[in-house]
Amino acid sequence: MRTQVGIVGAGPAGLMLSHLLHLRGIDSVVIERRSRDYVERRIRAGVLEQGSVDLLRDSGLGDRLTREGSRHEGIELRFAGEAYRVPMTELTGRAITVYGQQEVVKDLISARIAAGGRIVFEVDDVGLHGLDTSTPVIRFRQGGHDVELHCDFVAGCDGSHGVSRGSVPGGVLTSYERAYPFAWLGVLAAAAPAVKELVYANHERGFALYSLRSPEVSRLYLQVDPDEQLDEWPDERIWAELRTRLETVPGWSVNAGPILEKSITPMRSLVVEPMQWERLFLAGDAVHIVPPTGAKGMNLALADVALLGDAFAAWYADGRDDLLRDYSRTALRRVWRAQHFSWWMTSMLHRLDSHDPYEVQLQLSTLRYVATSRSYATSLAENYVGLPEV
Ligand code: APR
Ligand code: PHB
Repeated sequence: MRTQVGIVGAGPAGLMLSHLLHLRGIDSVVIERRSRDYVERRIRAGVLEQGSVDLLRDSGLGDRLTREGSRHEGIELRFAGEAYRVPMTELTGRAITVYGQQEVVKDLISARIAAGGRIVFEVDDVGLHGLDTSTPVIRFRQGGHDVELHCDFVAGCDGSHGVSRGSVPGGVLTSYERAYPFAWLGVLAAAAPAVKELVYANHERGFALYSLRSPEVSRLYLQVDPDEQLDEWPDERIWAELRTRLETVPGWSVNAGPILEKSITPMRSLVVEPMQWERLFLAGDAVHIVPPTGAKGMNLALADVALLGDAFAAWYADGRDDLLRDYSRTALRRVWRAQHFSWWMTSMLHRLDSHDPYEVQLQLSTLRYVATSRSYATSLAENYVGLPEV
């Protein structure tokens, strides 16, 4: 097989890159370890910044997003028995849209397939070769056969457990990492959301988040210990804990219903630099991970590949390599802003391992500052909706 850009991974990063390249007449092949069904059902976060929504719409993917996504102009913070709404749109002129990541993935896969795009699912033993030559090759197995995909460039969009990052020789990449002493237990529930906007709660028993997917489906999260097992969390315990942490406002209650899915995800922060080596360009979770508190993961993945799309277009159309050379440096500015914001939101809202009373008071003071200072609230809001230029 031969293509111009070989893409490893059919998550939001790899699929969006393939779509953006297609719109510019550049050929690509996406290879994916899992099945189509698996990637379309995998439940992940669901907040799109204004810039991500604009990117999806401008590239012809706005139909279902506009119909089914829900636009939010604020979020609520709950702490110490108080509730405060951050009026994001009033403060920034921008909004976010809640639309599940797997819906974005479904829209992208169907657009690629409708346009004759090649996505090879259920590949195995993926190896990247000749990355420091002008003729890299991706070797893999599919359906019992060895396949070679010859390309001009490789895009490593294979998430946090992928192979691309590890194909770079030792000593080239630098990692910056932070592990947090907690995880999120996430549930999807067949219950009408009791909130119109997302609620982020700092509670002495731990963080909780009330989000939603549709008028009939809620998405909720609880801070838990990273070594906790799902079988320790029967549905009744989950609802009881959600009530304790979220029902801190008089006359308001959580709306429970059958739990459709639950999972525990550990939280960490990671940046690997640079995001390029020779003919390999890395994007999305393959090179940076954020804790979900800032709702940035999918947005960063899309922002990376928007840059890469422009950079490959300049190379193929005009023979220019300046954007490709600048890709890592440009992308890392946004990546580090999102790292700081995600770390900051996480630190402000979670129960700290130390239970250090001094740190608890700092958290509450930070939350009160957001609630009383227009400038501080604007800082949260502009990061949350996404800064257009970083
Ligand atoms: N070969 C082919 N595909 C692979 C391989 C491999 N060796 N390893 C992993 N993959 C696939 C995974 O199965 C997955 O479908 O790469 C894809 C990576 O997709 P994502 O994990 O969704 O990563 P990305 O596209 O960067 O999107 C980032 O995903 O995890 C969330 O919070 C994160 O919202 C963020 C988004
Ligand atoms: C979600 O709806 O899944 C969601 C929302 C906000 C977050 C994280 C996840 O910060």
